[in-house]
Amino acid sequence: MIISVAGSGFVGLVHGAVLSKQGHKVILFDINQDKINSIINFCEGKSNDLPIFEEGLPEILRTSYKNKLIEFTTDSKRAIRESTFVFIAVGTPPDANGKADLSYVDSVAHKIGEVLKETPSYKIIVNKSTVPVGTARRVRKIIEQYYQGEFEVASNPETLAEGRAVMDSLYPNRLIVGVESEKARKLFEELYSSLFSPGQSRIHFMAPESSELTKYACNTYLASQVALTNVFANLAKKAGANWREMIPAVLGDERIGRFVHPGLGFGGSCFMKDVSQLYNTIKEIGGSEQDFQLLKQVLEQNENQKMQLNIVLDRIYPELNGKKIAVWGLAFKKDTNDIREAASLKVIPDLLKKGAKVIAHDPQASEEFMHEMKKLNVDTTNLMIVEDMYEATKDSEALLILNDWKLYRRPDYNQLRSNLSKRLILDGKDVFNYESIKEQKDFEYHCIGRPSVNILL
Ligand SMILES: NC(=O)c1ccc[n+]([C@@H]2O[C@H](COP(=O)([O-])OP(=O)(O)OC[C@H]3O[C@@H](n4cnc5c(N)ncnc54)[C@H](O)[C@@H]3O)[C@@H](O)[C@H]2O)c1
Repeated sequence: MIISVAGSGFVGLVHGAVLSKQGHKVILFDINQDKINSIINFCEGKSNDLPIFEEGLPEILRTSYKNKLIEFTTDSKRAIRESTFVFIAVGTPPDANGKADLSYVDSVAHKIGEVLKETPSYKIIVNKSTVPVGTARRVRKIIEQYYQGEFEVASNPETLAEGRAVMDSLYPNRLIVGVESEKARKLFEELYSSLFSPGQSRIHFMAPESSELTKYACNTYLASQVALTNVFANLAKKAGANWREMIPAVLGDERIGRFVHPGLGFGGSCFMKDVSQLYNTIKEIGGSEQDFQLLKQVLEQNENQKMQLNIVLDRIYPELNGKKIAVWGLAFKKDTNDIREAASLKVIPDLLKKGAKVIAHDPQASEEFMHEMKKLNVDTTNLMIVEDMYEATKDSEALLILNDWKLYRRPDYNQLRSNLSKRLILDGKDVFNYESIKEQKDFEYHCIGRPSVNILL
């Protein structure tokens, strides 16, 4: 398989070199003639200077070059024409507003379009650069200005870290690949087959949009962890604690890094209270404004998250007055009757305030919930709690699911079909099986973190 790589910078050069080491024929092309000359001079032994330093790279480049498995050129058209895969690994530097400058990516896409128009053939164009979600679509549109034949635009964001780039590329812990077709998926499996032992492939295939966003999600998780670490370290220093000796105990909490299932925010007795206390401690101890504001924003985001289903419902029904709405789940999570900081405490009063009639169910937390409503002085005239979860849905316009009790997981769709006056389901905890609700066809389903299904209303 011939592969071309646009951009012989840090990512392009390492990626091209590693693919050539796997036995693929690689053509690296760049608009910078000096860079290309200096790489060729290095490969031919005429100089010892490579534009980038990375352990293991010089040896791979010289060997592959000698074996004619890698070449370097500024003739982008030839490189594109001869290859099946065209990786785009050009820079995407931030502009003054922090937005990725996609002009280099666009210019490669135009070049690919021109080549395909002149010499049509099937190609997989791959965004290797870090690009915002939607860029695969953007590249496709540019190419379609020139060419309407079959081609694929995929996303395969680079995950190597400088300083160990060659090892990261030769022994990746996982690869992220966004494709649209089975054909492209198979070609990627073939391309990367030698990186993994048979049956041990760690390629995560998904839609191009998911792949593009995965890269940003990982970096933002990591960046947030660095920021939070420094908030704790600053506080520790001021409070006479030692962050270093805390680290093993903090990392001993195996949940850290694993709370990746989205929902209606966190509830329960601890998170809100403890983050609030830490916010106050940093403030009192004279910590920096940015440090405690970061924690405040965590709390604010969480409160806003609790209202995600209400926001969708408001869009569908700008007028809720007199409408019957079913709610499943009052406790802050399954398997408990604890309602402290539960999403239900925000969601239901909001519906009642807008004049909706709420019929709610929870296997354990009904009493606690009603008690709390009283304490909060919420007018509960239009709130009814029922013992049968399906009774809540009778003649209701919509079903809102706020927690993840097991009994909500496998609903009787026929009962829901005959009970709900509008087949509208808003799931705040990913409780329903996404694929099976898609198959139902006649339910409009909204959930967190995935596209809505069957928009009917
Ligand atoms: N450097 C990293 O550690 C790293 C890691 C992961 C992802 N990334 C991402 O990978 C992308 C590339 O990063 P980099 O560090 O390799 O950038 P770089 O600036 O080192 O290299 C980009 C290269 O692209 C070339 N180029 C520009 N326009 C071109 C065109 N039309 N045709 C051919 N070549 C062209 C430039 O001349 C340059 O040599 C960026 O999106 C970056 O965010 C970088």
